[in-house]
Amino acid sequence: MMHIGRIKILVKQKLEHDQSGHGFDHIERVLSLSLAFALKEKANIELVTLIALLHDVDDYKLVGIENANLYKNALSMMDQGNIDEKTQTLVIDNIQRIGYSRLIEGVRPIMLEGKIVSDADMCDAIGATGLLRVHAYGLSKGQPFFNPSVFPKSTIEAKAYKEKGSNHTINHFFDKLLKLKGLMMTQSGYKEAVLRHTFLVEFLKQYFKEQHADDWLNFLNTTIDV
Ligand code: ADP
Ligand code: NI
Repeated sequence: MMHIGRIKILVKQKLEHDQSGHGFDHIERVLSLSLAFALKEKANIELVTLIALLHDVDDYKLVGIENANLYKNALSMMDQGNIDEKTQTLVIDNIQRIGYSRLIEGVRPIMLEGKIVSDADMCDAIGATGLLRVHAYGLSKGQPFFNPSVFPKSTIEAKAYKEKGSNHTINHFFDKLLKLKGLMMTQSGYKEAVLRHTFLVEFLKQYFKEQHADDWLNFLNTTIDV
């Protein structure tokens, strides 16, 4: 029989001390959101649980680029948890298709269970939790939170390239976070993402007002669709 509890302990041991934004707290939030989506979408709960628990244990930031595609950690943990071979193959196939960079390259989960975890993973980057995560990331990199003279590259190109200043956390909202809502693959994921997206937009509006950053406020209004 499957020992999902044992796998959870192994994942916890592996990610407890992770400082790259993929700590066990991220896994717990993704798991609980995934399970909420899974109930609404009538998905296979065991498969969703395994994909959610194991989706970051072979991240390249943790195991190095050369090991990232081998899924050694996920496979070994599933062996230790008595997961049958057929289920292991399904889990790995789904994990291989999760991640923002893959999604923008057109790679996405085919199965409902993978779509659910992908949606939950991205929801964890937005909303109040997402705001705290980007802030923590910015602090850990020593990057400024806001540099009004450096606009996102993709949009106001000329201006951004002229300013060679270091990047800042606010640009990450425009480069990635505000795009996540549009990448949801399930109905329940989309509903949750809309709430979290709206919160981020409200935060940015208020922040730009407090900073007297009228150009950024205008920029935000022309970029977003809420
Ligand atoms: P993911 O879990 O999607 O793989 P990453 O590993 O890229 O996310 O990043 C972990 C966390 O750090 C996320 O919350 C992400 O939004 C945030 N983050 C990543 N890059 C930046 C950046 N350049 N500035 C601020 N926050 C960032
Ligand atoms: Ni993740």
